[in-house]
Amino acid sequence: MDRKEELAVGRRLLGHIDGRSTDLAADMFRNKTIAYASRERAVLERDKLFRDRPLLMGLSSRLARPGDYLTEDVVGMPVLLARGADGTVRAFANVCRHRGAPVAEGCGNARAFTCPYHGWTYDLAGRLLGATDKPGFAGLDIAAHGLVPLPATEKHGMIYVRPSIAKPGESLAIDIDAELGDFAASLAALRLEDYVLHSTDRIAPRLNWKFAVDTFLESYHIAHLHRKTIAPYFVGNCCVFDPGGLHGRASFVKNSIEKTRAEPEGERQYLPHIVAIYQLFPNTLLVWQMDHIEIWRTFPRQGDPGVCEVELTLYKPAVTTKPDSYWDKNRDVAIRTVLDEDFPLGERMQIGFESGAADEVVYGRNEPALVHFHQSIRRALGVAA
Ligand code: FES
Ligand SMILES: [Fe+2]
Repeated sequence: MDRKEELAVGRRLLGHIDGRSTDLAADMFRNKTIAYASRERAVLERDKLFRDRPLLMGLSSRLARPGDYLTEDVVGMPVLLARGADGTVRAFANVCRHRGAPVAEGCGNARAFTCPYHGWTYDLAGRLLGATDKPGFAGLDIAAHGLVPLPATEKHGMIYVRPSIAKPGESLAIDIDAELGDFAASLAALRLEDYVLHSTDRIAPRLNWKFAVDTFLESYHIAHLHRKTIAPYFVGNCCVFDPGGLHGRASFVKNSIEKTRAEPEGERQYLPHIVAIYQLFPNTLLVWQMDHIEIWRTFPRQGDPGVCEVELTLYKPAVTTKPDSYWDKNRDVAIRTVLDEDFPLGERMQIGFESGAADEVVYGRNEPALVHFHQSIRRALGVAA
């Protein structure tokens, strides 16, 4: 969010506080509960929303130095992501070209990857350096047995990967600016390359991945579900929403914004009082959280629409005077609110969706980010309901 956007969003939020209003969607939106519970829908989503699209893997600092790598199974594709000796981030299928074992596990720093099964070794650019039994593999075309590359690109401090094999002749580059559209400049203005990873949490709640996104997209529930925790700090049911293609940005506000009214309008610093949630379609929430970045990534569990895998990473400014205990506290508030309040209720809702008791849910006009998210899903899936 650049300074111009900050002033505009802050002004709109103060206007809503004064008018006891919020941004509204054009209409209420009805969604079939089966969208949260159907196996057929889950397969369509996997193919059209996840395998076919570039997905945010994290900020650049996850792979800060040459040789840094991480592995992750992304909707059924084992991914190995590594920063090469030349500084370039590359992605590969984490599948050994001998007999398919993963060549790396977890994350770390390496000069090469040695498969644990029979010791074939690959460099950071995925090239096979050699097989361990020379006579056994005499005549093997070493150059043709590198790790299979996946489309990957780093830009604006973010790393994107598409978890599917490139078609013959297809470029391995991802056009991140085209992917982000209107939000590319806005995200670049956040200077995400200046944030470093502080913590990583992973959980697997028993709910559909879309609910894990939904729960962040409206502040209507804050005064009710979070009455005893975060509600005193936030202006509930108050949101500024900006669509950007399939993506969207929902900005919520803390009561502390009132302090800014003492300043002349053009000099106000709104960002410390705003939680701006960039909903990066389909599964990522990149959250500007007053003074740091949270990224929530949500993936459907293969074969089960009723379970998802959620990752929260918290990134702090690379230069900060605040002690780690401060960032720990921020992480604790985020994870505890979601784990203790949002997801337990979501797991009960998932049972309701799967029961068939009600065949629809309805998102209100005061939940414009939710309306836009589910409209975007229908557009991307090419379905009418
Ligand atoms: S499977 Fe990797 S060396 Fe055999
Ligand atoms: Fe919540």
